[in-house]
Amino acid sequence: MYACGCAAIRGLDRVRGPSLRIPSSIRGSAVRGTLLTVAAQKGGVGKTTLAYELAAVLDGVLVDLDFHGGGATNLWGFDPMSSIRAPLLDALEHGPGRPPRPKHRPNRPDLIPSHPDLSAARLDAEAVADCLEAWAQAWQGRSVIIDTHPGAHWSTDGAIQVADLVIVPVPPGRREIAATEAMLREYEGFPILLVPSIVPPSPPARWIAALQELAQAPSVHLAPPISEHRWLRRRMLATAVTRQTRSGTRTQRAAREYQAVARRAAQLCLTPTTT
Ligand SMILES: Nc1ncnc2c1ncn2[C@@H]1O[C@H](COP(=O)(O)OP(=O)(O)O)[C@@H](O)[C@H]1O
Ligand SMILES: [Mg+2]
Repeated sequence: MYACGCAAIRGLDRVRGPSLRIPSSIRGSAVRGTLLTVAAQKGGVGKTTLAYELAAVLDGVLVDLDFHGGGATNLWGFDPMSSIRAPLLDALEHGPGRPPRPKHRPNRPDLIPSHPDLSAARLDAEAVADCLEAWAQAWQGRSVIIDTHPGAHWSTDGAIQVADLVIVPVPPGRREIAATEAMLREYEGFPILLVPSIVPPSPPARWIAALQELAQAPSVHLAPPISEHRWLRRRMLATAVTRQTRSGTRTQRAAREYQAVARRAAQLCLTPTTT
């Protein structure tokens, strides 16, 4: 039995660093891939950037459940308003039987794009959870990384309910800690990985202490940090940082950090439990 259920993590060969031994019993297409949900109560904490890079590193499918513009779908280069079809909405409305087909472009994560109408769709958390579970089966062992809308929404709740691991970026700040505390209370007992996010060279000691305190809870874990990379805000490329060809020193440094978080998430999903 594994902490994250029947986890199959593909694409780890892209992750540099200590190699992971993935038991053959949970590799391959017979089991569903790991579901990793990136969520936080606040916006602007680095969810979308992290989800995009994790999906790229793990060679997973990125499901964009954030219905507001300027998210992963936009970053990838897809405009839902210029397309006649809304694959995510269609698939959710049809139920678990019809998985959408991921969009593919070189050096970007495979994507199920979002649509603004998701916000008002007549669906609930259970429907989203059932679909995600079924899609993770249908995509033959690939990891599924889900980016979410900040704060409370049934789509976020469904994605958290079904997640093998909930990944929560936490930048320095009092309100960021308060929002994370509230989220941990709401999802007490869920497997959660806190990711110190957008971390400046000298982060406040009180913030570090607060994060360490939060990670004392048995189901809460702490990932290696993602530094503040100011150039990321101005970056115009749609390619993932972790897949950028001819990358320079600063890109490689950021890529190594995202890879380290992916490795930590994978390790947690493969840790044997005693139950
Ligand atoms: N590590 C980082 N360093 C600096 N800026 C970052 C970092 N990660 C994300 N950003 C920037 O912060 C802003 C919010 O990031 P985003 O990933 O969209 O957060 P969220 O999805 O939580 O709203 C974006 O402009 C993004 O480019
Ligand atoms: Mg976002």
